[in-house]
Amino acid sequence: MPFLSATLDRVKPSPTIAVTTKAAELKAAGVDVIGLGAGEPDFDTPANIQAAGKAAISNGHTRYTAVDGIPELKQAICAKFKRDNHLDYTPAQISVGTGGKQVLYNAFMATLNPGDEVIIPAPYWVSYPDMVLLGGGTPVCIETSLERNFKLTAEQLEAAITPKTKWFLFNSPSNPTGAGYSHDELKALTDVLMRHPHVWVMTDDMYEHLVFGDFKFCTPAEVEPQLYDRTLTVNGVSKAYAMTGWRIGYAAGPEMLIKAMRKVQSQSTSNPCSISQYAAVEALNGPQDFLAPNAKLFERRRDLVVNALNACPGITCPTPEGAFYVYPSIADCIGKSSAKGTLIDTDEAFATALLEDTGVAVVFGAAFGLSPYFRVSYATSDAQLTEACARIKTFCEGLN
Ligand SMILES: Cc1ncc(COP(=O)(O)O)c(C=O)c1O
Repeated sequence: MPFLSATLDRVKPSPTIAVTTKAAELKAAGVDVIGLGAGEPDFDTPANIQAAGKAAISNGHTRYTAVDGIPELKQAICAKFKRDNHLDYTPAQISVGTGGKQVLYNAFMATLNPGDEVIIPAPYWVSYPDMVLLGGGTPVCIETSLERNFKLTAEQLEAAITPKTKWFLFNSPSNPTGAGYSHDELKALTDVLMRHPHVWVMTDDMYEHLVFGDFKFCTPAEVEPQLYDRTLTVNGVSKAYAMTGWRIGYAAGPEMLIKAMRKVQSQSTSNPCSISQYAAVEALNGPQDFLAPNAKLFERRRDLVVNALNACPGITCPTPEGAFYVYPSIADCIGKSSAKGTLIDTDEAFATALLEDTGVAVVFGAAFGLSPYFRVSYATSDAQLTEACARIKTFCEGLN
């Protein structure tokens, strides 16, 4: 009898770990490494939110709480959905977990049966397919293209739906591409879903507040109110409020689903950290005026990186609508050799050679299910970004 669970055989170890480990090794050996891999803002949690966390400790909010969130936080989340998304929810329709990651995981664990399919547009956030596999379901990954700005078309969605489809997993703006769906682009997808009443939507709105220029964020239940009864809207405080370490994410959806997710959480972690929950109340109820300047800062960095990467021979970098990532193509680099003689036959080979030769750490596209690309996180200083892009340019100029 094998000791380890057979379910784990279906799950791949994170392909990003190889790059991260290599970068750490080089750094330890004294190499000047610039990491463009981090998926988190490069600034501290705003002072008012920090203060709310400290006050929670002083006020004795250090005990177990209700499994899926304190009433104050559920109220703040309902108010947020009303304010930002024009969606009406009651506290009984809200689930709070240890990060958006746990909330997504709970939703899959609570709903998937063997054979159930989950449609995931590729490239995707690395955890989606493996979470589906852990839940016993089948990920159905549909490749998008750079030509269509990495957005799934209505035709692609229609073709992917089968009688076994349980969820359509939607993420806009996206990790890893930054692509954001406009109202009309999303409406085209929700129109397809209206023709398939057995398919539910799980929307990961984590990057809602990081959108640029004229782009207007929208979410499925807002664009198509008739989908309200089969939509789980997932969000969190990690990215918008620079609270990645506090671990608070949340979701809103039909009460029977929220109850089932609570059951999963009650037998795993129980409540998310009590102190973090009080800090999240302040994040959602407190001043929101730093969000817009913050998005402006990221927009400037996006422009810096897109311009610099498009000046590199062999790289094509589209301009995304949001998040803090770009996902450039290296199709024109494939088949060449680096100045040090390494054959660049895959995007993994590109990222490895780039790291070894220049000290710039990026994540290769295969990790996100679409090659040949790489992901750059521009959540770092202008100086670091400028230097990293200069090194990438030298590396590309050396390919032949
Ligand atoms: C698209 C997306 N969804 C969800 C998460 C999870 O965020 P958290 O668990 O910190 O709330 C991340 C984090 O990188 C993400 O990029």
